[in-house]
Amino acid sequence: MRSGVSLQDLERELENGALPAWVFSDAQVYEWEKEAIFKRVWNFLAHESEIPEVGDYVVRFIVDTPVIVTRTEHGIRAHVNMCRHRGAPVCRGERGRSQAFRCPYHGWTYSNTGELVGIPFGEQIYVDPERIKRELSLPRVRVQSYRGLIFGTLNEQAPSLEDYLGESTWYLDLFGCRGLDLEVFGDPERWILSANWKIAAENFGVDNLHILSTHGSLIVELKQFPFRQEYLLGPANFVAYFPGRGHAIAVNRPFPGMKFVGVPESLITRMEAEAPEHAPFLDGLSTVVGTIWPNLSLLTVVQPLGPYPVGQGEAPRYWTIRVWQPTGPTQMQVWSWCLVPRAMSDEQKWKSFQAYRLSFGISGIFEQDDAEVWKGITELAASLGGREVRLNYEIDGVEGPWPGQRFIKGAPGVVRPYVTEAGARNFWRTWLTYLRGGSDDGHGGSMGDRGVFDSRGRAAG
Ligand code: FES
Ligand SMILES: [Fe+2]
Repeated sequence: MRSGVSLQDLERELENGALPAWVFSDAQVYEWEKEAIFKRVWNFLAHESEIPEVGDYVVRFIVDTPVIVTRTEHGIRAHVNMCRHRGAPVCRGERGRSQAFRCPYHGWTYSNTGELVGIPFGEQIYVDPERIKRELSLPRVRVQSYRGLIFGTLNEQAPSLEDYLGESTWYLDLFGCRGLDLEVFGDPERWILSANWKIAAENFGVDNLHILSTHGSLIVELKQFPFRQEYLLGPANFVAYFPGRGHAIAVNRPFPGMKFVGVPESLITRMEAEAPEHAPFLDGLSTVVGTIWPNLSLLTVVQPLGPYPVGQGEAPRYWTIRVWQPTGPTQMQVWSWCLVPRAMSDEQKWKSFQAYRLSFGISGIFEQDDAEVWKGITELAASLGGREVRLNYEIDGVEGPWPGQRFIKGAPGVVRPYVTEAGARNFWRTWLTYLRGGSDDGHGGSMGDRGVFDSRGRAAG
């Protein structure tokens, strides 16, 4: 806990090229984030394949708010899981199939489109029960989908999801949302992590330098991945970020001559046919990793199923998306979905899931590597001697041309080398813009792409 934090202080710090550690622990900052960020953005809620039939629902969260996401005859709808009578949660399950939700407190019943359709003894106890039914629907949450990804917002003024995502959709498509017809495999795994949500969001969007050190056990010791210098610094790899929007995604292409290794050939053909603009990027493609502002991250990569290197045994590809759901200034709940191409065989899907579980599932080795570090950062960021420490974001600080740039044509966003902190700096610029209320239209305003992190050599113009 820290008192007297001001946004002007923060801005000054960022202008000096540093970030005070207390942003990862401060209770006031957390309260600001809830109102200024999570109440205004599009929050990822669910994948359409989780609710395939009319009546299917899942309960998900926008920070602390439970939201019922359901497929109705009129499309996908979402409502805050809160009765309009006395405020009890009306849906007690986490997932299921139901046309209606009956409040356990006094029995008011709502249709899955949110209308109040039943009040016990309504005619006897209310003067005008029909008026009450008309007026008291479940609180609505706006929902829109992008290729199966369902997002919701509490902000009626938010731009369309399409506008919010902008050209980051190009990377969602490359990840597999277009052409691979991804579906969820099993339920999302969930666990509590004693770390601030922004550490995870910033790591996925994008911190590629940590891979060799944090994940050294698999990479350096077991030599599971062909990590040479080129794997990080190879000219065909890059990070793209989106000024004002906060998204950042990395693309790694270390296997020239091999197309999107681990994806069945028939699906590669389909990807190329559906999105010819992606075809050149499938060559050599290993990893797509990123964060969609503020707290949805995605990752696809291969993982050997045993203690051998990629190329010397089975190494299925897996796809995961995850939400870093804030549950407090120093804690989050992680929601992690494993996705698989619908057309893969059951055996292929199962192996892909095993690969996911080994590396990034709840007990995954990569997952635990990261969690351990993130927990430590959060504890120090709250500590007496640590909270005022300034953190450094100078990698690729001068965002000028670089030699590899010529290998990257047709990729949208601001394109930078694979090892960069440009995406992270953009994350923080966007974060500050939101905290300052500078994005009532739902994405970053004028502060979005400059004004902070500039003085340490960000190229002008
Ligand atoms: S609180 Fe739901 S019916 Fe009373
Ligand atoms: Fe990691």
